[in-house]
Amino acid sequence: MLRHLIEPDDFTSREYDTLFRLAADIAENPALYRHRCDGKILASLFFEPSTRTRMSFDAAMYRLGGDVLHLGDAKVSSLAKGESEGDTVKIAEQYADICAMRHPVAHTQHEVAKLLTTMPLINAGDGDNAHPTQTLADIFTIRDEKGAWSGLKVGFCGDLRYGRAVHSLFEFLNHYDNEFVFISPEGLEMPAVYLEKSNCPYTETGDLAQAIGDLDVLYMTRVQRERFASSEEAARYRGSYILNQTVLDRGRDDLIVLHPLPRVDEIATEVDDDPRALYFKQAKNGMYMRMALILTLLEASDASFGK
Ligand code: CP
Repeated sequence: MLRHLIEPDDFTSREYDTLFRLAADIAENPALYRHRCDGKILASLFFEPSTRTRMSFDAAMYRLGGDVLHLGDAKVSSLAKGESEGDTVKIAEQYADICAMRHPVAHTQHEVAKLLTTMPLINAGDGDNAHPTQTLADIFTIRDEKGAWSGLKVGFCGDLRYGRAVHSLFEFLNHYDNEFVFISPEGLEMPAVYLEKSNCPYTETGDLAQAIGDLDVLYMTRVQRERFASSEEAARYRGSYILNQTVLDRGRDDLIVLHPLPRVDEIATEVDDDPRALYFKQAKNGMYMRMALILTLLEASDASFGK
């Protein structure tokens, strides 16, 4: 059966548990997985800039023995001649076994998935909506450090309005027994559509220094300037929050600090050496999770895979 990952809710709790166990095994025993995707091709279709997600999908596929087919710069593809993104993805389906796609317009991947018949599609970020494979990296790191992804007080700080990584991590954690603190400047609050479906208790504040003291997890984000109507509007929020050593030292010793990255100015580099700062490890965990996801979707979608 053809399976995609478009939204965090596309997998059940049990499936996530299996996925995290697989990622942990891959991280511990990489040699066992070195040839699992021999002969397989991942189509990498990024219609919006990326460093981590694009590179970690590449690294994941190469470490599984597979290859990657890049669309490359859309300006040198037939998109420049007016070909639709739907047709572009259907063409990729003729050449590749699985696809990772990022697009600046929310819900594009939801529409594109309807066109596919053989190729699993992974949402690598759609506008301000969702970023489910970032959530995999986030949860793998939380699980590794805290032993669970429930019973936690999680602070989300920064641009909560446009931050798709925040939205997807919220969607995931909202299924469990957690508590949320939404820390944002006025105008970039967590959208009402998410607050209305919160199953967990939450508070909203503008004060990071005050909120940090009783958090288990602090999830920092940058201002998503590419989503604003103008760069002047985005610039109004620059420097709203800066996590430096003084602020971090108000947090507990067992606090963990995550960030989907890229960072702009919201985490001072002096914090990078603090053992609570886990954002580089989080990026590495994303690669193991993407390896596990590629294997899982190929196994689900192709009965002959691995036989
Ligand atoms: N976290 C993340 O999505 O980073 P990139 O935009 O660099 O892929």
